[in-house]
Amino acid sequence: MSVRGKHIVIGICGSIAAYKITSLVRLLVKAEASIQVILSPDAKEFVTPLTLATVSKNPVLSDYFDRSNGVWNNHVELGISADLMLIAPATANSLSKMANGACDNLLLATYLSAKCPVFFAPAMDLDMWQHPATQRNVSILESYGNKMIAPNSGELASGLIGPGRLAEPDELFEFISDFFNEERPLKGKKALVSAGPTHEAIDPVRFIGNHSSGKMGFAIAEALHSLGAEVTLVSGPTTLPTPPGITRKDVTSAQQMLEACNQFFDNADIIVMSAAVADYTPVETSDQKIKKKEETFQIRLKKTVDILASLGNRKTTGQTLIGFALETNNELENALDKLNRKNLDYIVLNSMQDEGAGFSGDTNKVTILDKNKRVQKFELKSKKEVASDIATIILQHQKAINA
Ligand code: CTP
Repeated sequence: MSVRGKHIVIGICGSIAAYKITSLVRLLVKAEASIQVILSPDAKEFVTPLTLATVSKNPVLSDYFDRSNGVWNNHVELGISADLMLIAPATANSLSKMANGACDNLLLATYLSAKCPVFFAPAMDLDMWQHPATQRNVSILESYGNKMIAPNSGELASGLIGPGRLAEPDELFEFISDFFNEERPLKGKKALVSAGPTHEAIDPVRFIGNHSSGKMGFAIAEALHSLGAEVTLVSGPTTLPTPPGITRKDVTSAQQMLEACNQFFDNADIIVMSAAVADYTPVETSDQKIKKKEETFQIRLKKTVDILASLGNRKTTGQTLIGFALETNNELENALDKLNRKNLDYIVLNSMQDEGAGFSGDTNKVTILDKNKRVQKFELKSKKEVASDIATIILQHQKAINA
């Protein structure tokens, strides 16, 4: 794959480095990409719409409205139809607005509605770049799944020397073409991932829940998507944003999670059940708020359906099915037993005894067991890295069963 035929939106912000984008656009157009340039209002001070319209062979957009022709520039469509959006140069001001969801120009509105991968290439003065506010905004954008093309170190427009220079046009071009060249080994595969807790209603204001943040499952969904899989993420109540390019189905209770998983299971090649599903749910849910009358109060609970086990019963040979186990004692033995009982290909064991592993943090330490009792122990890592290890194992399994 190359950039040929790819539709790339390039957002240019108001920085002296904007002139470099003219060369980038030329390189991309030469490689037969189709380019739509959007200028922030200040960018027009540094580079002219006419120059960019000429090199991109496409009218340049900047305003929500083209008043003279009575045309509205539909940012939603721009963001949806693109294969990639690059914001370069990305100024401190625009990074801040992007991180916070501000939307006071067409470029930012397009960024907010972009469904495609987004790259941003910062350019600014040394001190602005190093300020904690800018660094925090960059981290926020990376947590949204946006990819940074890091600034270079060198002489800056102010005369200062240090990091803050926009990457050169050929570097930006290489980054973009590498992205499209990247192998997508799970392309054409469908994945179903469950994540987060479930909430089992007691009455209209109370529920039984757990501390699962959903971070592990969301990271797995992202890792599978980045390998090219088409991912459906069935999520219990979490505050996490949906990773770009992933279809999300929100559910609340174990029963709703079961129904959603049943709906997507048959078409899925890869199924990862990382949700912390409630094992029990109240026998009755009061439709009125329960008043405090008695000294002691009992709630009768009944078992929920074990979603993973029920999917394990229906599993076919082309499918990779992965479950999770959280154990406090006899860890390996219990996890292997779970793997066999639920007819899984792999089980990811989280140990409660390891510091840094578990529900709400950003790190995890896992051991992955397979049907042949092979045990792979991993170090304490970020959940994103753990997700990537799990995705690699899934890829190997899919390759083996489709060989
Ligand atoms: N799971 C599920 N549906 C449930 C309960 C659990 O799909 N109703 C899945 C989880 O998503 C996880 C795995 O089963 O992948 C492990 O769940 P866990 O609760 O640890 O195991 P159990 O089999 O319920 O055993 P126990 O609670 O006795 O440890």
